[in-house]
Amino acid sequence: MDFEVIKQNIEKDFNDVNDFNYLNLIKSKYLGKNGIVTELFRKLKDIQSEEEKREVGKKINSIKQMVEEKYEQKEQELILKKKSLELKDIDLTLPGYNIIKGNIHPITKTMEEINSIFLRMGFSIEEGPEIETEYNNFKALNFPEDHPAMDMHDTFYIDDKYILRTHTSPIQIRTMLKYKPPLKIIAPGRVFRRDAIDASHSTVFHQVEGFMVDENVRFSDLKGVLDLFTKEIFGKDLKTRFRPSFFPFTEPSAEVDVQCVNCKGKGCSVCKQTGWLEILGAGMIHVNVFKAVNYDPEKYTGFAFGMGVERIAMLKYGIDDMRLFYENDIRFLKQF
Ligand code: PHE
Repeated sequence: MDFEVIKQNIEKDFNDVNDFNYLNLIKSKYLGKNGIVTELFRKLKDIQSEEEKREVGKKINSIKQMVEEKYEQKEQELILKKKSLELKDIDLTLPGYNIIKGNIHPITKTMEEINSIFLRMGFSIEEGPEIETEYNNFKALNFPEDHPAMDMHDTFYIDDKYILRTHTSPIQIRTMLKYKPPLKIIAPGRVFRRDAIDASHSTVFHQVEGFMVDENVRFSDLKGVLDLFTKEIFGKDLKTRFRPSFFPFTEPSAEVDVQCVNCKGKGCSVCKQTGWLEILGAGMIHVNVFKAVNYDPEKYTGFAFGMGVERIAMLKYGIDDMRLFYENDIRFLKQF
């Protein structure tokens, strides 16, 4: 046997390999049960001289080693080739996956719309903390010491000094302490009340507060600002109406109604046949509130109002259950 010829054949055979099947075929051609190298080992026992046997054995071993090396080398080559082919196999003409876009939550959307209407009227935005002092939330706003709203049943108390704010009105106090008049502010935020949850009550909801303080601010200014606001948010054809009401921090106080967005004032189930929907509370800032922030009540007057964002959103979009806002059902949320 000419070992050099065998080596040349091995070289040539492995060079021709292009896939895994053929690679294994070539391997067994040499190392299989009846393979060339196996056959050579078998013939080794016919050699008489021990010395010659050892010499030839060494040569056959080196051939076996060569086959194994060639095999491994080619196998690696084929693996790399397969990987790069897989990359090239991506079909760029196939349609892509549909990525579902999120959208703004209806409460955020409504809040931003409310803010934007007042910003266009020249108001600026102020914010306050959700954990508020009992003082700013109640006392500075002229709540009497024994007011029922301060009850443990209505307010989340953190300790004897701090509470979760029950409305955005404490931002009036913070802002008036921070700046001097003239002020034209809106204050959006999250508020908390210990209410039983139902279609129109939630323990967590949102308000937008607004107030204006200057010399000669009048009730008619409040009416003009709120009338423009309701026309902007609900429609130009709807009238507003002011009814006498009471809040500790305003005097006089009013509840503001807008003509029913559903029946335009004719009377329907949404407005309980009255033709009107209550949308916010308002009034002229109480003298005692000015005293609490050291504003001269002889010099300054002001108005304030506060509205529930959930209520505005429900009326605007015709939603009859507030809980829908918090359940995070995509089928509901994606409609806005
Ligand atoms: N803070 C009042 C509420 O939560 C609303 C309000 C704000 C009323 C400002 C008058 C003036 O009901």
